[in-house]
This record gives sequence, structure tokens and C-alpha cells, in this order.
Amino acid sequence: MRKSDADGSASAVDDTADRCELQTAKRELKALRAQLENVAAALDMRNAALDAATTHFMIMDVRQTPGVIVYANRALALLHGYEDPRELIGRDVTAISSKVMPDEAREALWRNMQGRRETRMESEIVRGDGSRLLVGFTAAPLFDALGGLTHIVIIGADITARRAGEIKQRELQEQLVAQMQERERMAIELQLAQKLESVGRLAAGLAHEINTPIQYVGDSIHFLKSAFVDLSRFIDSCRRDLIPPAQAQGLRELEVGCDLEFLRQEIPNAFERTLEGTARVTNLVRAMKEFAYPDAPEHVPADLNRAIETTIAVARNEYKYAATLTTRLGELPPVLCNVGELNQVFLNLIVNAAHAVEDAGKDAVNGRIEIETRADGEMAQISIADNGCGIPAANLAKIFDPFYTTKEVGRGTGQGLAIARSIVVDRHGGELDVQSSPGVGTTFTVRLPVRGSAVRSAASLILA
Ligand SMILES: Nc1ncnc2c1ncn2[C@@H]1O[C@H](COP(=O)(O)OP(=O)(O)OP(=O)(O)O)[C@@H](O)[C@H]1O
Ligand SMILES: [Mg+2]
Repeated sequence: MRKSDADGSASAVDDTADRCELQTAKRELKALRAQLENVAAALDMRNAALDAATTHFMIMDVRQTPGVIVYANRALALLHGYEDPRELIGRDVTAISSKVMPDEAREALWRNMQGRRETRMESEIVRGDGSRLLVGFTAAPLFDALGGLTHIVIIGADITARRAGEIKQRELQEQLVAQMQERERMAIELQLAQKLESVGRLAAGLAHEINTPIQYVGDSIHFLKSAFVDLSRFIDSCRRDLIPPAQAQGLRELEVGCDLEFLRQEIPNAFERTLEGTARVTNLVRAMKEFAYPDAPEHVPADLNRAIETTIAVARNEYKYAATLTTRLGELPPVLCNVGELNQVFLNLIVNAAHAVEDAGKDAVNGRIEIETRADGEMAQISIADNGCGIPAANLAKIFDPFYTTKEVGRGTGQGLAIARSIVVDRHGGELDVQSSPGVGTTFTVRLPVRGSAVRSAASLILA
């Protein structure tokens, strides 16, 4: 009885303890359930927030190869044609792009992730339907407690439209720059046309005005020269046949008094020198007319060696104190060109060379300008070299820009080479190059296609 009583009270104690444990466990379970519900609610809220975002989120488990998608938000799923982001879970990256990232980019990304460096990338992806997208994304690594890389979080956006917009904008900008350059070129060409026209008209007018009087002078000198021969013959006959011997002495004294012997020797020389001078003026006048070519806007076959000689004659005053000019003119076929325009080019190159030699402190004794021409296949090549001051390398790119000059006002306007390039390159389909060493000298080389160029200038189209 006692025993059973004792047993009965012991089991009652056990029951009470069990109930207590059960209740504690129930309470703990309840608390855990509440915690779990809280966590689930927080997770749902985060998922809802991430699904509401237009930015793409994705988490890849990279502990296996290929990596597996463990989270993707709605925006990313929709972009790739999935109704529910859960359809992507457990799949690898081929679920969102059939295009494989290039090895190099993948390796760089992997290195950065291992090195705990967030990485910004752009990548083209190809969707299931074959359409292509450009995505920009940031990849950030996640590590476990032991420091092993476990996941990569990817946050990105579809930048196809933005990039297309940027490309369009760049194209528009380039178009704008090209239009501005074209307008600038046309302005130069128009300026050139006006300059050529006025220079040509002036030179042709002057040449015409000088031509007529110089012809009178030449004709009169020829007449005087032959008249003096006749007069001398007449004086000799009178002296020999008509003067009585008694008066011969008096006549000789008169002759000595007026230096007749000297006059008879020097007057023909003076006529020769005058004729030489008028011949030079006549040549210059012809050169001026040929140089300007005001009436020949079209391209016709021309002898460029003659054009160079003409330009040298016209430019003599510009270089004669600065340098000695020598030529080595090779055989050139006739070149289809507007020779009046090319004369402008040669003139500017010669004047530039003369200025450069002057700037180097040289003169006609040690300053040199050498002009050489030669045929090179289908091209005619003209080089104008000087031993002037040269052009610093940093300025070489600028010298063809309109209005770039290193000369003081009145000596240069900076248009010569811009116009020369427009004439040679745009209007004749040729090349204009420069080589220069500061302190040593400069060589400009003009290369022109012998058969001319099909290019018609903007100015000639406008002026036509
Ligand atoms: N042969 C050369 N040697 C050294 N510098 C040169 C030579 N030719 C041109 N240059 C440099 O290039 C610049 C531009 O030359 P460009 O012929 O276009 O203009 P400019 O001679 O200054 O003026 P413009 O020709 O309009 O009278 C010159 O100011 C000069 O600095
Ligand atoms: Mg010049």
C-alpha cells in the first residue's frame, strides 16, 4: 500500500514535469512560429519591393558550374519572357541568354569577384526569341563564413534604348560637325573664288594697260636703233665725200668736243639694254596674264613647269632678298587642272618659304628655296623646299586650319595653306603634304593626278 502510494506520487510528479516541458515547448514553438511568420512577412515584403522595381535583380549560386539562379525579380523575368520569376529558379544563365559571355570578360569578372571587387559591365544578351538586348549591370560577390565565394548578386538594367539614343546623339553631333566643316570649307572656297577673281581681274587689267605702252617703247627703240645706224652711215659719208680737207681738222675738233666716238659706241649698247629691259617687262606682263587666268575656271591640260616659271617671275620681288631660288624641273605630262588656281598654291608656298628663310635670319647668300618637279606614275609631283626656320611638330597639325598664322598682322592672314589645301585636295583630288624640322627647313609636296579629278567644288557648283 505504502509502496503503491509511493509509486503513485512519483508518477504524479513525472506527469507534472512532462506537462511543464510540453507547455514550454509549445510556447517556444509558438514563439518560433511567430518569428518564422515575421521572417516570411519580411521576406515577402522584400520580394514584393524587388518585384515592384524596374531594376533587374538576380542572385546566382556559384558554388557549382555553371552557376544556378537562386533568385530573380519580376522585372528581370518579364524582360526575358517569363511570367513568374520562380520559373527561373534552379536554372543556369542560359535561361536568360543564349549568347555566352566572351572568355576574357568572364575571367575578368571571376577574378574581380574573388578579389571582392564590385564590377560594372555591359553585355549583349540574346533572348529565347532571338532578339538582342544590351544590359548594363553591377555584379557584387557574397562569401560564406570561411571566406569562400558562394553567390553573385547582379543588379542591372536594359540599356538598349539608352545606348541607341546615345549613338543617335553621337551621329547627330558628328553630322553637325561635318556640316559645320562643310560650311567652313564652302566659305573658304567662296572666299577663294572671290580672291582669285579680283586678283585675276586686277592682274589682267594691269597687264593689258602695261602691254600697250611697252609695245610703243619696244617699237620706238627698234626704230631708233636702225635710225642711228643710218645716221652713223650718213655722217661717215659726209665726212668722207663732202667735207673739203681744209675743214677736216675743224670737224675732227667738233667731233672730239661732243665725244662722237664714245656716243657711236655706247648708243647701240644703250638701245640693246633698253630692248632687253622691255623684253623683261613684256615677259612679266605675259606672266601676270598667265598667272591670273581670270577667264579659265574649267579644268584644261596645262604645262605645270611653265606655270611654276610664271609664278616664280611674278613672285620674284617676294623672295629675291630672302633666298636664292633654284629649280629642277623634270619632264611632266600636261596635267588636267585649273592652272590659275594652282598658281595661287605655288605662289603661297614660295612666299611662305621666303618668309621662313627670312625668319631664320638668312638672306640671298645663304637662304635657299628649291623647287623640283617630277612625274610619278599617274601623278605630277611638285616639291618646294626651304632652309628656313621650320615648323615645330606641335604646330604641324594646325597650319592647314583657316586663319592659323604665326605672322604679324599685315604679313599673313593664315588663309594661304587652307586655300591651297582646298584647291589641291578638294578641287583637284590631289595631296598636299609637309615635312619639317625646326631649325633645318621645310618641304611642301603637292601631288596632282595627271588626268584631273572628278570632284567638283562646292563653290563651282554654287557659282555655276
Ligand atoms: N615653309 C614654311 N616654313 C615655316 N613655317 C611655315 C611654312 N609655311 C607655312 N608655315 C607656317 O604656317 C602658317 C600658316 O601658313 P599660311 O600660308 O596658311 O598662312 P600665312 O602665310 O601665315 O598667311 P597668308 O598665307 O594668308 O598670307 C604660317 O603662319 C607659318 O607659321
Ligand atoms: Mg602663306
